[in-house]
Amino acid sequence: MAPAHDRLRRLVLLLVVATAAAALLLAPTTADAALPRVQHTPTKADGSLAILVVGDWGRRGQFNQTLVAQQMGVVGQKLDIDFVISTGDNIYDDGIANTSDPLFKESFSNIYTANSLQKPWYLVLGNHDYTGNALAQLDPAIRKVDSRYTAIAKSFIVNSGIADFFLVDTTPFIVHYWNNTKFDWRGVAPRDTYIANLLKDLKCALTASKAPWKIVVGHHPISSACGHGNNTELEELLLPVLRVYICMLFDLT
Ligand SMILES: *[C@@H]1O[C@H](CO)[C@@H](O)[C@H](O)[C@H]1NC(C)=O
Ligand SMILES: *[C@@H]1O[C@H](CO)[C@@H](O)[C@H](O)[C@H]1NC(C)=O
Ligand SMILES: *[C@@H]1O[C@H](CO)[C@@H](O)[C@H](O)[C@H]1NC(C)=O
Ligand SMILES: *[C@@H]1O[C@H](CO)[C@@H](O)[C@H](O)[C@H]1NC(C)=O
Repeated sequence: MAPAHDRLRRLVLLLVVATAAAALLLAPTTADAALPRVQHTPTKADGSLAILVVGDWGRRGQFNQTLVAQQMGVVGQKLDIDFVISTGDNIYDDGIANTSDPLFKESFSNIYTANSLQKPWYLVLGNHDYTGNALAQLDPAIRKVDSRYTAIAKSFIVNSGIADFFLVDTTPFIVHYWNNTKFDWRGVAPRDTYIANLLKDLKCALTASKAPWKIVVGHHPISSACGHGNNTELEELLLPVLRVYICMLFDLT
């Protein structure tokens, strides 16, 4: 009896030690604030990737959104696209109130109906997505409404073989937004800490990326010849991190 008891006690102790060791091994990854990732393996035999990029779109079909959506469907089929990237201002004027807000279906599901667009959409938020409930589009419950809608965090990475896409949340950089009470800064404020952590994580991820193409996606352009002009906050804070890399996709307006 006694030896069996001892063996049992030893086994329990070993399990406790093993669990503690496993917890210790896991600790660095959970404490590490690395950007979350989505793995999107390309399906074409040559490993190539075809994507569509769109921004400033959710208008209940108005402002020619429906016409653009139809053409995206045509081009999407021709190119046999793997996924769609959205550069933000996904839903005008103030994002969606919650995941059951009818505006979501009216501006997304009921508009991008072409077969070729039934692929994952990887999205960042724009300033218009921030002036209501900025967390609603990130809520996993949104994928019960439309499984394509993939914004797993405000900033995240899509690994897709030949290319890594770094989706960066640019709205918090813009200083004058912080004086506007319509912005929803939950999970963001204080600005300086958020930006410092984001840039640190981005730098780490860009350095670690082995993909031949590293593509940074954000809503606010760093330099623009359009009305908004250059963005001084992004020139000062984001550009130095990106300088060594080649390709950026930003919303152009
Ligand atoms: C939509 O596009 C048509 C041309 O196809 C243009 O005449 C019209 O002004 C556009 N509507 C809006 C609201 O931009
Ligand atoms: C979600 O938002 C819509 C639109 O504002 C509103 O009508 C509805 O009551 C909200 N639903 C919940 C569960 O809060
Ligand atoms: C924000 O508001 C404060 C006080 O109202 C003002 O001093 C500051 O200049 C404003 N900042 C920006 C960037 O608009
Ligand atoms: C905007 O940025 C571009 C690229 O860095 C630069 O060439 C241009 O002079 C800038 N424009 C202004 C008005 O500062």
